[in-house]
Amino acid sequence: MKIAVAKEARDGESRVAMVPELVAKLTGLGYDVAVEPGAGLHALIADEEYAAAGAVLDDAAFDGADLVVSVQPLAAERIRGLARGTTTISFLPVNQEPETVVELRDAGVTAHAVELIPRISRAQSMDALSSQALVSGYRCAIVAAGMLRRFLPLNMTAAGTVQAAEVVVLGAGVAGLQAIATAKRLGAVVRAYDVRAAAAEEIRSMGAKAIDLQLETLEGAGGYAREMTEDRAARQRDLLTPYIAAADALITTAAVPGRTAPMLVTREMVEQMKPGSVVVDLAAETGGNVEGSVAGEVVRIGNAQVWGGRNVPSQMPGPASKLYAQNVVNLVTLMTTRDDEGHALFAPDYADEILSGSCVTQDGRIVHEPTREQIEGPAQPGPEPEPQPEPEPEPETSAPPDEQLDLPYDQEADQ
Ligand code: NAI
Repeated sequence: MKIAVAKEARDGESRVAMVPELVAKLTGLGYDVAVEPGAGLHALIADEEYAAAGAVLDDAAFDGADLVVSVQPLAAERIRGLARGTTTISFLPVNQEPETVVELRDAGVTAHAVELIPRISRAQSMDALSSQALVSGYRCAIVAAGMLRRFLPLNMTAAGTVQAAEVVVLGAGVAGLQAIATAKRLGAVVRAYDVRAAAAEEIRSMGAKAIDLQLETLEGAGGYAREMTEDRAARQRDLLTPYIAAADALITTAAVPGRTAPMLVTREMVEQMKPGSVVVDLAAETGGNVEGSVAGEVVRIGNAQVWGGRNVPSQMPGPASKLYAQNVVNLVTLMTTRDDEGHALFAPDYADEILSGSCVTQDGRIVHEPTREQIEGPAQPGPEPEPQPEPEPEPETSAPPDEQLDLPYDQEADQ
């Protein structure tokens, strides 16, 4: 059984899906690991480190691989080169990249999208959205601190006192909370707002002040935010304006899954900010929380420098790769069972909601129903199925569930 680690090909992608220190976890499960030469280069990982960890460096790593792991989805020509039945694990934004889904379907690939892993506690150790949001949140706070031309902490010196900087964070999910924690550690006065009811307590637990706009909260499914009406959005913007005008740095991290990011801050609101103020918009790539922000660029709006995030986890490729690789190892472990002799087998059990939920294509079909409907249209009502005779029960061939491998929950990776 062979796992191939792809060299990322997309512009600006510096991460790699496997790190040398975790190769042993895969070989320990019984897999051969083949890495494309140069795969870790942008994450500052040399080929020799993979080799020393027990991986094979191979230009033809994909040949004969049962599983291909990558950060970004594979390019079309690479998908076409895979043997039918190959499994892939990667980010796969199904709404934005329907053409990639079609390639995967037509190539007979079993493709897993890490963003579709259900957000249940058992799946936390595989949750790549969370692990990468943690990196993004930290990075946002550091970018804001670096762009500000002032101290973040209060400084009381013999020469006098310099006030602490005021940082406002909008959106207090995984990334927002990490931005809050980082800005607090740097000594800033931090205020934060989120539409979810649970967020206020989480903001306070980070030592920040929760902004209370006296608006109804918007809790959606799975702990996510719900989309709001334009009227509610306008009232939220009005009420947030004085907080933003008083801020030295504004960090926005708000998202609604599967939708364009909500526009929380208008150009006029930014124009009220003080000279030297900075805005960091983590959502710039998905439409932006701040009107006028541009992904991958710094633009000037009024007195503020507005930084638009573009593939932010990739800006810290070492830790982002380590956390992503840990997510991948945990997912691969879940896909691995033991045969009667105790040998590890790559045999994903699609009765498991983590595996069925994250699987987008399989056996030449799109099996993630919302994606299938988006690409292929509504399901056609088929002819009434012929009544089938009851099948004979099959002898049990796979190990019972209690003999499946234990899922290692790596506490360290979640911190
Ligand atoms: P996200 O990236 O979808 O959104 C970021 C934040 O923006 C969220 O907190 C959301 O409430 C907020 N937001 C959305 N629209 C907003 C608006 N108009 N104004 C202000 N804030 C707005 O969410 P993320 O960070 O991925 O996770 C959100 C929540 O999901 C977590 O706090 C947690 O409750 C849950 N979660 C559960 C996990 C699990 O059980 N495995 C793992 C990670 C998160």
